[in-house]
Amino acid sequence: ALAQPVPDIAYSFEGPFGTYDTAQLRRGLQVYSEVCSACHGLKYVPLRSLTEPGGPRLTADRLRDLMDLLDPVPTADGAGRPHQATDPFPAREGEGMGPDLSLMAKARAGFHGPFGTGLTQLWRGQGGPEYIAAYLAAFTEDTKEEAGAVHYRNPVFPGGWTAMPQVLFEDMVAYEDGTPATLPQMAEDVSAFLMWTAEPKLEARKRAGFVAVGLLGLLTVLLFALHRRLWTRLR
Ligand code: HEM
Repeated sequence: ALAQPVPDIAYSFEGPFGTYDTAQLRRGLQVYSEVCSACHGLKYVPLRSLTEPGGPRLTADRLRDLMDLLDPVPTADGAGRPHQATDPFPAREGEGMGPDLSLMAKARAGFHGPFGTGLTQLWRGQGGPEYIAAYLAAFTEDTKEEAGAVHYRNPVFPGGWTAMPQVLFEDMVAYEDGTPATLPQMAEDVSAFLMWTAEPKLEARKRAGFVAVGLLGLLTVLLFALHRRLWTRLR
């Protein structure tokens, strides 16, 4: 059976001029840290990137506070050491843990139509963050046990039953910026944050595109003027 359709969300980072909403990335980071990180790692995301332009732009002090809350980095002598800014977020691997979320927003698609051709992605985008937001908000109370493991009914998840329980509930986090923590709000914020983890250079990439197009435009004008001048005697 086809999975339940995923609603489109007008994220700030969409389109050629789109940029991340810093406040939203900070809220998403808060949801990830307080909820998702219990089961999901971000092992490809360096902690220092949280302070860099185009991201949540934490101050060095906030980053220090966040790193102090992480489990120590394992060392050969078993003692462990505190995290440094050059370390990635911890991984979460083993029994009961979920897949790494670093690249999840690019690894999933929300839009598949029409008729499963995927053509709507041409104008709506791939829909990775939309899929994550819809998945987090679509849990029902049905459960079933299969092969000794509990599965939860989630009509957005392909197959309809997922090994992850519902984790987001109204007012699950107390947002520092005072935004009301409704379920759709938290789902949208954490999915935007996961888009940033998957595409941290999105803003720099878009800027580079405009510079390239601008320079090519200038080159076109100059070449056209040169062409006129070179051939003017023979015309
Ligand atoms: C799978 C996101 C919290 C356990 C997933 C997937 C996403 C996700 C996007 C992949 C679904 C797919 O394959 O299409 C999140 C987010 C969380 C969160 C954003 C926080 C808001 C948790 C927590 C747990 C958990 C707290 C543990 C209690 C799992 C497991 C899977 C999974 C076991 C694999 C599900 C399966 O393949 O059937 N999660 N998750 N997640 N998550 Fe989470």
